[in-house]
Formats: sequence, structure tokens, C-alpha cells
Amino acid sequence: MNDTRAFRECFGRFATGVTVVTCVDAQQRPCGITANSFSSVSLAPPLVLWSIGKESNSLQAYLNAQYFAINVLASHQHALSAHFAQSDHTLFDSVEYTMSGNGVPLLPNSLATFECRTHQTYDCGDHHIIVGEVLNLASDAGDPLLFYRGEYRELRE
Ligand SMILES: Cc1cc2nc3c(=O)[nH]c(=O)nc-3n(C[C@H](O)[C@H](O)[C@H](O)COP(=O)(O)O)c2cc1C
Repeated sequence: MNDTRAFRECFGRFATGVTVVTCVDAQQRPCGITANSFSSVSLAPPLVLWSIGKESNSLQAYLNAQYFAINVLASHQHALSAHFAQSDHTLFDSVEYTMSGNGVPLLPNSLATFECRTHQTYDCGDHHIIVGEVLNLASDAGDPLLFYRGEYRELRE
């Protein structure tokens, strides 16, 4: 299979939620990246994964981070998704956040938050897969932000 366009077209048919994955870098600066590669892996122990492109400026921060958080975005947070899809070290200057006890930036008003300890990372093609053990959970009422065929969508009854 060597048809990148067809590959993207097919993946686009797989509707996902949208998350912002957060951590701090070696200088304790907050990092955030929009990611829809998030998935559950295991219930016991509770493990989740996401994957980060090797071209990300934050790659080393995430590979070295002891802790990270998955912030699942609610339907009203598409501006946050677009914000954290930008490559910029100052993204947190204009965003409200709190710091967890483990020193991970958390985005308030997220639909759900999974705070994780990095369990394992895997070098895989043009991405690294990052597996985290979930340490703390939070969830809220509301609808999710969805991503389908390259566009943001909302749930419809
Ligand atoms: C809806 C959506 C989902 C994305 N999912 C991922 C992902 O799972 N992994 C990834 O590495 N990049 C993903 N991206 C792209 C990154 O958000 C973007 O390349 C990154 O923020 C660029 O900044 P950086 O170089 O500082 O990492 C996604 C972008 C969007 C809009």
C-alpha cells in the first residue's frame, strides 16, 4: 500500500473525539498538542495511548515527560483544538490552565481528563506511540467535540 491520499481518505471515515495532550518540558514550560490518536488500551492496569509525529517540536518533551494528561475536548472547545494544533512555544500564554499535583497542566472545562504516568514509548514509523498509566480521572457533563473527514463535528440526536 503506497497511496497516502487513499490512506488519509479511509482514516478520515473513522470519526474520533479530539484531545489536547499536555505535559511540561525539561524547563518546566507547559506543552500542549491537539491529538485524535488517543485510545484506550487496558482496564487492569488502566492504560491509554496516543501517538506523536516525529516532526513535532514538542517530541522530546513528551518522550521525556514522566507525567502527561489527556484533556478530552467538549463541543464548545474547537477554538482550543485549533490553538493547540499550532507549532508555538507560547501557546499557554493565552490559555487558562491549572497545574495538577504531579505538575501537569490541565485544561479546565474539558469533557474528561486522564492524568497519566508514562508507562512505555514505542518508536513506530513516522510517529512514537506513548502509553500512559492512568493515575487520576475526571469527567463532566456535556457533548464531545468530534473530528470527521478533516472537519469538526458535533453529536446530533
Ligand atoms: C484534529 C487534530 C488531530 C491531531 N492529532 C494528532 C495526533 O494524534 N498526533 C500528532 O502528532 N499530531 C496531531 N495533530 C497535529 C498537531 O496538533 C500539530 O502538528 C502540532 O500541534 C504542531 O505543533 P508542534 O510541532 O509544536 O507539535 C492533530 C491536529 C488536529 C487538528
